Amino acid sequence: MPQKTPIAVLISGRGSNMTALMEACSRPDYPARISLVLSNRPDAIGLKTAHDAGLPTLCIDHKQYGKDRRSHEKAVDEAIRQSGAQLVCLAGYMRVLTPFLVQQWQGKMLNIHPSLLPAFPGLHTHEAALKAGVQRHGCTIHLVTDGVDEGPILAQASVPVLPDDTAERLAARVLEQEHQLYPRVLADYITKLNLA
Ligand code: GRF
Repeated sequence: MPQKTPIAVLISGRGSNMTALMEACSRPDYPARISLVLSNRPDAIGLKTAHDAGLPTLCIDHKQYGKDRRSHEKAVDEAIRQSGAQLVCLAGYMRVLTPFLVQQWQGKMLNIHPSLLPAFPGLHTHEAALKAGVQRHGCTIHLVTDGVDEGPILAQASVPVLPDDTAERLAARVLEQEHQLYPRVLADYITKLNLA
């Protein structure tokens, strides 16, 4: 079995996508292992989940840096590199990145977004999808570039929008897809880059 590629997972909250990646990484035949779970928020539930699972965790609280986004990102970048990670997975990391961090990890940073991009970038995607009356909604894994939710799309998964959907019900169905899609796309991407 070739060596597993070390990845850093960046979160800000619940961390259910992080958990999906963690479960995939625990399989012997999966081509990645998590070298760091990093949060910008000390109260992120996912930090505790990762810590309890024995993973290296770190909080670099953006509030400690005030308006100095660059210094915060430098600290984040250093921590990722120190962990040995070769790829970064954003998994509900609720910070808009500056070109600094984006450039450091060009082609090596993935994000999951809860809509079928280019439809509904930004926040409140499920509400927006319902309001727009679309028939299908879903999630996208893309490479991170300077524009928010704009990078090259690696894969998408979709679900039908049902007549009695609420934003919560729709979000839950999309989230199930996210949990399946992220580990699969990450593994494919590692194979494509020939990292594993
Ligand atoms: C997910 O819907 C993800 O697509 C979006 O933020 C949410 C994070 O959820 N970027 P979780 O923290 O992974 O549970």
